Amino acid sequence: MSRRKKIYEGKAKILYEGPEPGTLVQHFKDDATAFNNQKRGTLEGKGVLNNRISEFVFAGLERTGVPTHFIKRLNMREQLIREVEIIPLEVVCRNVAAGSLSQRLGIPEGDALPRSIVEFYFKNDELGDPMVAEEHITAFNWATTQEIDDLMAMTLRVNDFLSGMFSAVGIRLIDFKLEFGRHYENEMVRVILADEISPDSCRLWDLDTNEKMDKDRFRRDLGGVTEAYAEVARRLGVMKDQPSLRLVEEGGA
Ligand code: TMP
Ligand code: ASP
Repeated sequence: MSRRKKIYEGKAKILYEGPEPGTLVQHFKDDATAFNNQKRGTLEGKGVLNNRISEFVFAGLERTGVPTHFIKRLNMREQLIREVEIIPLEVVCRNVAAGSLSQRLGIPEGDALPRSIVEFYFKNDELGDPMVAEEHITAFNWATTQEIDDLMAMTLRVNDFLSGMFSAVGIRLIDFKLEFGRHYENEMVRVILADEISPDSCRLWDLDTNEKMDKDRFRRDLGGVTEAYAEVARRLGVMKDQPSLRLVEEGGA
């Protein structure tokens, strides 16, 4: 592992060169940051859980026809993915008011939104990922009008899929963040879903109790972060091969 070429290191993940051209290895760390790096922590076992949850979600999306970067899981913390050119946007989709939407617009957390809302943020840590409009995206060539249409359509399909998947296991999907990339293949380019989908990138509330089962437990110092992620995994039937949900490292792949 140590000999592999590191392509990029982010807050919660590392990307290494993959075994074949056009592939990368995505490694999930236990590190967590929030509020643009002002809050940092390490949550033992988080990377293992997010790797498995994200695998489960991406495999399900692929089966329903949403193209993604996911190829296969390699081991406890790593998955093989297609290399893409990341579009510098964070696409947020909201079903229920929470977080920055509640803060900016004064809508109480927990209020159902009249319809799903899709927002774009410019991926730039130094600027704190500011919200942007389509006008900015096309003016600064971050994405074309056609690509924005594709991002919107795919995001709403992901929302339908995730909402159904989570409600079936007693979880309400409040909101989530997606990232997309351009995949080049045989002179062709198409936009595919990239990054991860996990309790780090979603707000998930228990359907009955409204208990938070996502990264807000870390952001807001509620405790029990990994336990909540493990409960999400358990309800989805992920990690069934490890019934004790042991989060210790396995020896090899
Ligand atoms: P927000 O309410 O803070 O704007 O977050 C909306 C959703 O996007 C929430 O599920 C958390 C997720 N998110 C990320 O995954 N990364 C980020 O950098 C931000 C700001 C939000
Ligand atoms: N600020 C974002 C959050 O609260 C992400 C981050 O800074 O890692 O999740």
